[in-house]
Amino acid sequence: MTLSQSILERQLSRPFKYFDQVDSTNDVAKAWLAAGAPEGAVVIANAQTRGRGRQGRSWRTPPNAALALSIILKPAKAHLSRLNMVAALSVYDLAAEVGCEELGIKWPNDVEINGRKVCGILPEALWEGGRLAGAVLGIGVNVRVDFKRSPLSGTAISLEDMVERRLDRAQLSASLLRRSKQWYEQIGAPVLHKTWKSRLTTLNRAVAVDGVAGVAVDALPDGSLLIRDDSGRIHQAGSGELYAHSDDEGR
Ligand code: BTN
Repeated sequence: MTLSQSILERQLSRPFKYFDQVDSTNDVAKAWLAAGAPEGAVVIANAQTRGRGRQGRSWRTPPNAALALSIILKPAKAHLSRLNMVAALSVYDLAAEVGCEELGIKWPNDVEINGRKVCGILPEALWEGGRLAGAVLGIGVNVRVDFKRSPLSGTAISLEDMVERRLDRAQLSASLLRRSKQWYEQIGAPVLHKTWKSRLTTLNRAVAVDGVAGVAVDALPDGSLLIRDDSGRIHQAGSGELYAHSDDEGR
């Protein structure tokens, strides 16, 4: 079944905006947040023409093949960096619910199946004169994106590749939003970090983050990664994006 305004109206009990095609749900959600959207409101699209990924990369959302949504949230500033955990755990639970196995989270927020990426997460904060106005939590899930002839074929995967049946994207969206609400309610609780850390596949592995190479030795409650380099020095890496749009005061 395809996504539509009326199908989503039956599934969702929160304010939402649906677009058959949009540039980026994160951009629409940020504009809605700036215009006064309530917490929990969500922007959903069937396709994105300029979907954005981490570190300035683009994110592909072809029509009828994926989930692309951005949730508007108003967390405390101290909890901003834990939005990655909220989203990664929600997608992990969703993938498990539909029957996927061999799931893991690659730091900071890539949910993978057998080491291949099934979703992308882009949390972004909105600052107004040094005050945190809120955040948007952008989530893209590959449901039936065809990677066979793509350069990403070895590194990306879709849910339907694993479950070999047709999945309903409206139901998946509703379930993902329910799960993200539940995890968001735990944003300050130890269980959020504990569960995320227990599902990370990155620990005790060789990593290279922002020019620092070494072994990942721990993942802290603020979401940062501790890396021990060859000389035994410990470096702390944050995931960055949340501060990309802040002004100097907000940093
Ligand atoms: C990544 O690079 O892994 C993050 C990709 C995030 C993609 C999602 S799709 C919904 C939302 N809108 C965007 O433009 N990006 C995020």
